[in-house]
Amino acid sequence: MTHAAITGWGKCLPPAVLTNADLSTFLETDDEWIVSRTGMKERRVSHVPLGELAVVAASRALAAAGLDAAALDLVIVGSTMGDETAPNVASGVQLRLGAVNAAAMDLNTACTSFLYGLSTATAMIRTGVLKTALVIGGEVATPFLDWEDRNTAVLFGDGCGAVLLQATDREEGLLAEKLGCYADARGALDIRGVGGRFANRGIPYGYTRWIFDGPEIFKRAVIGMAQAGQDALARRGLAIGDVDLVIPHQANLRIIDAVGRRLGVDPARVFVNVHRYANMSAATVPVALVEALEEGRVQPGATLLLPAFGAGLTWCAHLVRWGTRTTPLGASAAELPPCAGTGLELVNELRGRRAGFAANARPQLEAAQDLFRS
Ligand code: ACO
Repeated sequence: MTHAAITGWGKCLPPAVLTNADLSTFLETDDEWIVSRTGMKERRVSHVPLGELAVVAASRALAAAGLDAAALDLVIVGSTMGDETAPNVASGVQLRLGAVNAAAMDLNTACTSFLYGLSTATAMIRTGVLKTALVIGGEVATPFLDWEDRNTAVLFGDGCGAVLLQATDREEGLLAEKLGCYADARGALDIRGVGGRFANRGIPYGYTRWIFDGPEIFKRAVIGMAQAGQDALARRGLAIGDVDLVIPHQANLRIIDAVGRRLGVDPARVFVNVHRYANMSAATVPVALVEALEEGRVQPGATLLLPAFGAGLTWCAHLVRWGTRTTPLGASAAELPPCAGTGLELVNELRGRRAGFAANARPQLEAAQDLFRS
């Protein structure tokens, strides 16, 4: 049987840092509230669009595998809010990488997009459609945040991660997964202002209002991630004791802890970096995977469990067998262009743009008060 081994990995975090103290300069919030409710201490704000982060993360994944971009058969970009719709983001990444033989696909299941991409690419490799695929999970959410809403603005950050999959006869890569969606709760996280239903009402693209039922998302996330984890393990006749490291979606430390308790896993075997980056949506799992490797937390032959959830409310868990190599074969010279501003300066620019939208589109916003504050 053909399997899809993970042979390369890379991440790209934009350099500008936004701390909890920065947020409290314009929101009624403080470090104590954010840390105690979420575990988050800081997050990154990107000065470039998602595609640029994706190219750097992808170049690093290719170098880690010692592979030329021309060897790629497929590029998947998993993301909630891409840079563009037509052409898609993946075609831009394909072009800039020089992956001339690759198909290019965007995939959106919100925060679970990277993992749904892992399922998609693995299935294509198993069935012989292709041999080599790059799966990217990235998010540049900061331009789409409602920076005046303390309920949501403090929770998110930007970043990108990527893995390279290659066909192999060895039993490596994805062993089993469970995918699902609580569509009855899709209204619990509804980003209004991005999409045709808002353009039709004259809302400026990206002027968002977040409908966000935190406690409902919290409850569903814990149930969905834990259940998916148990189902994925059961599909291979494994128990949580067989898992060496759980690398969950990093949306909130309390969610991670609650999922860990439900799964019955020792907290020492759960990887956490939400304090550094907050919730990077589709990027959290691939970035956490890369950092777990960098920190020596993934041993050759390790069994990993990757549970996640996102808007939709989509949920899933992926059981992965690592190969023999846990260090990159090479490094890439790819880097982001320099960033002139601090995190707070970049956010204040975004806040100014948002205020301009509100001033210029007041009649449209007033006419759509069912969707938007005026
Ligand atoms: N600073 C200070 N106070 C705040 C802040 C803030 N940043 N945000 C909200 N509050 C206030 C609220 O106004 C509310 O005040 P009130 O009681 O006077 O109305 C109060 O704090 C709510 O506090 P708690 O009930 O303690 O909040 P809770 O424990 O529910 O935590 C949180 C809120 C962090 C949002 C939690 O519900 C959560 O993490 N939910 C899941 C969110 C999530 O993961 N979202 C991502 C979804 S999908 C994806 O990953 C894209």
